[in-house]
Amino acid sequence: METLKDKNILLVGATGGIGSNTARLLSGSGANLFLTGRNSEKLSVVAASCNVPAERTFVLDISQPASVNELKEKYFSQLPTIDVLVNAAGIGIIQSMDALSGTDFLRSLNYNLYAPFLLLKSFLPAMKDAKKGLIINIPGVLGKVPMAGAAAYSASKYGLVGMMQSVREELKRTDIRITNLFLGGTDSPFWDNIDLKVQREKMINTEEAAKAIWFLCQQPASGVVSEMVLQPFNHQAI
Ligand SMILES: NC(=O)c1ccc[n+]([C@@H]2O[C@H](COP(=O)([O-])OP(=O)(O)OC[C@H]3O[C@@H](n4cnc5c(N)ncnc54)[C@H](OP(=O)(O)O)[C@@H]3O)[C@@H](O)[C@H]2O)c1
Repeated sequence: METLKDKNILLVGATGGIGSNTARLLSGSGANLFLTGRNSEKLSVVAASCNVPAERTFVLDISQPASVNELKEKYFSQLPTIDVLVNAAGIGIIQSMDALSGTDFLRSLNYNLYAPFLLLKSFLPAMKDAKKGLIINIPGVLGKVPMAGAAAYSASKYGLVGMMQSVREELKRTDIRITNLFLGGTDSPFWDNIDLKVQREKMINTEEAAKAIWFLCQQPASGVVSEMVLQPFNHQAI
């Protein structure tokens, strides 16, 4: 395991259930964090709990190219390099085809696929200059196996996996590593607005999901964890 002390890490979606726990673990390990979220109040609370100064936070809608560009400017005004990019932002629209609107389909693609593309466009060049870096996304198991009612969500997450695997091929001659975390149901606010009968008490808890990301961030550059699958106990098969 590599130390996280003084590693420069951008954590996108630091206000979420998984992101906020990840922020606390990474800051506890001595990383230099830059945190983003959509909700400014939540972001201030997470930043304060991690001793991250306000200058190293940024509120944005990650699907907006101008905002992501501004994030890049602000990030590099605070930290000289980017060792790890963790993208823990995303939305879950789980609806059958009868109920699914075109707007919600496009929202899924915007936040779960276009936004990670924008992050790549903004931060990959610096990693390429440094010839190293680590990018972690969370496609979740619905980016690997289908589920009824998940057409929009799975389209966005399968797309994310395809995009990252293709970019990985482009980066073969560099030390830039790409990790896809296929996480099963995790009990976070993600589920608050999903109209589906689920047993949240049987899901992975957000602290454990965050520990998986924290573990991935510490993998030495001599090896690549291309993917990790972490499922709730009663969903072991994949
Ligand atoms: N929970 C699960 O069961 C599960 C399973 C597999 C994969 N995942 C994936 O894991 C990631 C994190 O999920 P979570 O469970 O932590 O969900 P969450 O608690 O709902 O957090 C979602 C995060 O995404 C941010 N976000 C959403 N839309 C945004 C936008 N347009 N611009 C900027 N930020 C935006 C939210 O910001 P604000 O809070 O500030 O609005 C929040 O930080 C997502 O990609 C999700 O698809 C989750």
